[in-house]
Amino acid sequence: MNDKLTGSKATSSTTVSQDVWGQADGENAYLYTLTNEQGMQVKLSNWGAYVQSIKVPNRNNLVEDVVVGYDSWDEYYKDCCYAGPIVGRFGNRLNKGQFTIDSKTYQVTRNDGGANKNINQLHGGLKGLHKRMWQSKVITGGVELSYLSVDGEEGYPGNLHIKVRYTLDSQNNFKVSYTATTDKKTPVNLTSHIYFNLTGNMADDIENHVLQISADTFTPVDDLLIPTGKLQPVIGTPFDFTTAKKIGQHIRTQDAQLKKGGGVDTEFGGYDHNWVFSDHDGLMKKQASLYDPSSGRYMEIFTQEPALQFYSGNFMDGTVKGKNAQLIQHRYGLALETQHYPDSPNHANFPNTILAPGETYQTETIYKFSVK
Ligand code: BGC
Repeated sequence: MNDKLTGSKATSSTTVSQDVWGQADGENAYLYTLTNEQGMQVKLSNWGAYVQSIKVPNRNNLVEDVVVGYDSWDEYYKDCCYAGPIVGRFGNRLNKGQFTIDSKTYQVTRNDGGANKNINQLHGGLKGLHKRMWQSKVITGGVELSYLSVDGEEGYPGNLHIKVRYTLDSQNNFKVSYTATTDKKTPVNLTSHIYFNLTGNMADDIENHVLQISADTFTPVDDLLIPTGKLQPVIGTPFDFTTAKKIGQHIRTQDAQLKKGGGVDTEFGGYDHNWVFSDHDGLMKKQASLYDPSSGRYMEIFTQEPALQFYSGNFMDGTVKGKNAQLIQHRYGLALETQHYPDSPNHANFPNTILAPGETYQTETIYKFSVK
């Protein structure tokens, strides 16, 4: 397996076009189209920083969409399910929607857990970053999006200036670069919430996708998917993806942690956990890959982040209509979210996620597409 990343520099051979897509909050939502010389195409918006589609060839050069989502602006405006935005300020969960900084406890909005979804915070709260209009400008090979999350928004301290750059190069590297600065200490954990299905146009579910994650441990969770604070070895469990295996291979194993993944398959649950990369040192590394044997599409994930949330689409139940009026059935998409560990501010043994004034949050993730 080739672990080397080639040609990650965005080149001007990628064209970027901009179309008005819709309106919200009195501003235009744009749909940008990035096209490279290999015919790979990415569509994204300044609304919620959504990635709407990624079109890549299969092994017979048939270009199809590998992102699960919707066709129209209205559907993105109403999206229930984080179908491709940037999530934050704190991606994934915060226990009771609380954290303490310098002896002061903050209560952020709560939108998850229990019948009323009001126990914990998930993905930054009610509007997070995904229901906001971002500023946008075309840059070499892509688009730069900026958003000012004001002091007190969703309960978070500090004015947080966020920039996300999406670029595509000639080697089919789709790069997401994040930066943020603040004027008060605040937790930051930004990630992309794209649902992938490499079969193309959702031809099948994702159970035959072959996944590899370079992680010897994961963070086990309680019944509301909050980490217990422990690191659990993957060896001998369904969570072992150190060697590539089909997602479906162990997904119906009776396992206490898998069961907490919940969803439609309540007897067995599913994957909805945070894997901890074994050799993280802050540098960009290949940490995961996903392969679809039916189409030959292969995606490698290079990241500077220490961990990955792998969510196997357990809650997808066929009630949401996706692209081409196709219902999004159980496990027809999966999310691979490069990130810091969920609920980090409440676990002293997890890597720091508090950004202080004068510091710059800076991290990159690359999704590299090829066929084999
Ligand atoms: C979470 C899931 C959640 C999903 C929302 C994932 O990042 O881990 O628990 O259901 O996002 O679509």
